[in-house]
This record gives sequence, C-alpha cells and structure tokens, in this order.
Amino acid sequence: MSNHKTDKLRELRAESQLGGGESKLKAHRAKGRLTARERLDLLLDPGSFHEVDAFVTNSRAGIGMSGQHLLTDGVVTGWGTIDGRLVYVYSQDFTIMGGSLGSAHAAKITKIQDMALKNGAPLIGLNDSGGARIQEGLMSLVGYSEIFLRNTMSSGVVPQISAIMGPCAGGAVYSPALTDFIFMVKNTSHMFVTGPDVVKAVTHEDVSFETLGGAMVHNSTSGVAHFATDSEGDCLYMIRMLLSYLPSNNMEEAPRVQTKDDPLRTDEKLDSIVPDNPNKPYDMKEIITSVVDDGRFFEVHEHYAQNLIVGFARLGGQSVGILANQPAVLAGVLDINASAKGARFVRFCDCFNIPIVTFEDVPGFLPGVGQEHGGIIRHGAKLLYAYCEATVPKINIVTRKAYGGAFCVLSPRATRGDLALAWPSAELAVMGADGAVNILYRRELANAEDPVARKAELVQEYTDEWANPYVAASRGFIDGVIEPHDTRPRLINALQMLKNKRDSNPPRKHGNIPL
Ligand code: HXC
Repeated sequence: MSNHKTDKLRELRAESQLGGGESKLKAHRAKGRLTARERLDLLLDPGSFHEVDAFVTNSRAGIGMSGQHLLTDGVVTGWGTIDGRLVYVYSQDFTIMGGSLGSAHAAKITKIQDMALKNGAPLIGLNDSGGARIQEGLMSLVGYSEIFLRNTMSSGVVPQISAIMGPCAGGAVYSPALTDFIFMVKNTSHMFVTGPDVVKAVTHEDVSFETLGGAMVHNSTSGVAHFATDSEGDCLYMIRMLLSYLPSNNMEEAPRVQTKDDPLRTDEKLDSIVPDNPNKPYDMKEIITSVVDDGRFFEVHEHYAQNLIVGFARLGGQSVGILANQPAVLAGVLDINASAKGARFVRFCDCFNIPIVTFEDVPGFLPGVGQEHGGIIRHGAKLLYAYCEATVPKINIVTRKAYGGAFCVLSPRATRGDLALAWPSAELAVMGADGAVNILYRRELANAEDPVARKAELVQEYTDEWANPYVAASRGFIDGVIEPHDTRPRLINALQMLKNKRDSNPPRKHGNIPL
C-alpha cells in the first residue's frame, strides 16, 4: 500500500480525534469538563477502547448543514472492557454542535445499542447534549425515537447505565430515563425537558439551571437520578463499581468476587443494636455494613426517600440486592416515594438474577391526606407487585416491626418469599399495641374509671401477647428466630441453599404493574 493512502487514513483519524477543534476543546476544558474521549479513557480498562464509525459525518439535509463536515457527528461510539468484561459505550461530544443529536449521530448510537443487545453486554451512555439538533428538524426526533425503542427493547436484557456529564435537555433526557441507572455530576450536569427560559415564558417562574435540574435536585427531590458525584472522574469510577455487582445480561449470574471475610463471621454488636424502646430509632445501615462482605455496601438512590435503603453488596462473594427500612428516617415508614424507589430496585434485581435480601423494621404506611391523595394505594401497590412478581431468591429478616400492610408488601412467605427469619426483637402484628388497644377497647376505655391506667394495662397485655416473633413462628409464617450476631452466616447459608432455585410466572405478554 502506498504511503499516501496510509497518510490519508492517519489524517482522517487525527481530525476525528479533534472533535470540534482546538478552540472549542479549550473552551470546553476551561469549564472544568473532560472531553468525550477523556471520559472514555477513564471509564474503560486502559487501551481497551475500540471505536466504530469514527469517519461518519453529519447529514447534509438541514438548515445550513450542506456545507458542514462534522467527523463523528458529535458522538464517539464503540466497545471496550471494564474489569476485563465487555461493555458498549457512547460518549457525546459537546464541542461538535453542542453534542446535539442529528440523524447520523442517532444512527451511531442505535448501531451500538443493537450490538449490545445482540451480544449480551451492558450499554453505557455518557450524555452531554443540547438535545435534538434543531437544524435537522424532524430527522432528529426520528433519531431519538429509534434510540428510545432500543432502550425499551434492551430493558431487562442488558444493564443500561446513563451518565449525565453536562447539559441534557429536551429529548436527551428520555433515553437516560428509560435506562436502569442515572449518574449525575454535581454543579456541571443538568437535566430538564424544558429549560429555565421556557419555564419563565410559560409559568413565569424564575429558576436557575441548578435549581431546575441539577444533580441534587434529581437525586433528592425528583428521584430521576440515582447517583450524585463530586466530579466527572468520581462518576466514571462509580460506574465501574456498579458494574462489578451486575451480570452482563439476563442469562448470566453476577460475577463472584473472592473475599477474605469469613462467611461464618458473627458480630456481637448486633445483639444490642435494636433499642428496647420500640419507638427509638437506630441506623439500619450499621446492620447492613456489619453483615455484608468487607462492610462494603454500594448504596443506590442514597439521597431519595431515605426511609427505605436500597443498594448492592456481596455475601460470601455473591452479589445481592438489599432493601431495608430505615428506622432513623420517618421511623422507616413506607410512603409514596419509598414504594416507587423500592419497586424499581426489586424489579432490576429480578431482571438480572440478583437475589434480594430485605431487612424489615416498618411501622406501616405513612398516614396523611397528602399521601392518600397522592396515590399511596397505587404507589404502594408497585412495591407489592414487584416483590410478588420476583422469582429470584428472596430472603427476609425482621429486625423489629413488621406491621400491617407493610408486612404483606415486604416479601413475606405468603408472597413467595423463600426464607423468613426474625430477630428476638421482632414484632409481627396487624398494628402496634397503642393503635390496636385504641380500636379494640374503645368502648371499655370510654367507660373506664381511670382510662389512662387501664390503657397502659391493655397495651402491656397486647405487647406481651402479640409484639414478638413467636406467634408468627408458631404458625410457620416465619421460618426461624435467630440471634442477631448470627445474621451473616445464616444469610450466606440461605443463599447457598437457594442457589438452584427455579421459579417462574404464568406465560403472558406482560403483567400490568400499577404505574
Ligand atoms: C443545534 C445546538 C443545540 C441544538 C446547542 N447547540 N444546542 N445546535 N441544536 N439543540 C449549539 C449552539 O448553537 C452552540 O453552537 C454550541 O452548541 C454550544 O452551545 P452554547 O449555547 O454556546 O453552550 P452553553 O452556553 O453551554 O449552553 C448549552 C445548552 C444550550 C444549555 C445546551 O445550548 C441550549 O439551551 N440549547 C438548546 C437546548 C434545547 O432547547 N434543546 C431542545 C431541543 S428540542 P456554536 O456554533 O455557537 O458553538 C428536543 C425535543 C426532542 O430535544 C423531543 C424528543 C422526545
């Protein structure tokens, strides 16, 4: 081959590497942001990236587009490895027309989506885009629709992860919203369907980018995003961590990770962690970190609905999804946000063969007009449905309260829970003693000579009789009462016992989860 031909290839490659050109790259970096390619370098194992479509150029059909020659069309696509495992990636390049999505740009993403689905590997999208390329009009909208379709078809087949690395406006938000997890970077990433100017014009509300769609807003208020990181580097590192808990597709198991943490390790601290006073809070995260391998808990949705904790960990080297009521926040009640958060997490674990361990201390659903009118019935039903539908191993540990409807929701044996254990501090009942006495003895208390003293007596009687795990144990509703310090070995043993579990749901097109 003549040198001339190789030179041409090298020239094109170099041009393609330069994105929107030196000055745009400089301006981009001046905002403290990494380039599309630098992000991929940090995300993937060194030297593992294989680019495709580096020489694709923009569609010439569009306002002022005929004279444009945009190599890559504003998105870098390909595959590489993370911890040696295959992943497909795209990384939008803001230096080329603001990372806006034209038809060629969309076709590059859909090609990668198709490859990820066919070859059973996760898809990671690094988003940094002004949305639909206005010059290309409807062609951009068609491009988005093609991406959305593939996000939906890939859902539950391969893990899909989105990182928001800059602005993410208009149609650009809906592809991430269809994926399994959204990461955002504090201060530099934003998501909104309509930006501050449109909001101002329509509703007369004055709002900044950050307060409308910043990382903490979407992590703590809207619940759209699952992770908020301090920097782009942290974000890319966290994606690698998350993937370590997940299988590559729905036909595989998550990788096992060797640990020096003894599977028979006990922890005496757990024996005194639940206070004697049932109304006193404690931190459920202490229990989780005590029990799991090496104390490592990878929390998901940390800032949202903190009355329910969800996240990944390992037990005896095996990935598990953990859900746990948090008595330290709102006494661990289930409310609208917690129900939706939990339901989505349970469904993710079930899609990807990750056993679910539930730590339960729940006084019930949150009462209130706001909750009822906001649809707690519908939202609570999501969590109930998700647990009932899940066929992965489901292990439940009641540390203290398991009351009322919340007991039914959180994976009891009657909804196909595989193993239900309780600590001696557990109280499994329709409701707490105070509420029960008020209802059962209303007339008697109204006529009592000393209603306060009589009520105290009745509460004590009810507590002695019902507020324990032994009524449930006597009927086989729970399988055993264990000493708290034994929790880790018991859970690891249970996971081994359930290793070959097979269960399925009736054949159907799909169920109709209450949305
Ligand atoms: C074409 C765009 C663009 C877009 C940005 N650019 N967004 N070009 N289509 N959607 C270009 C700019 O013209 C500019 O080009 C370069 O990208 C950088 O943009 P700046 O505005 O200079 O950057 P910045 O100040 O950082 O602001 C970034 C931004 C802003 C917040 C994203 O550009 C913006 O608001 N863009 C429009 C966002 C939007 O409304 N998108 C919705 C599109 S409709 P030059 O040549 O000057 O460098 C949509 C509907 C789809 O997406 C629905 C599907 C369901």
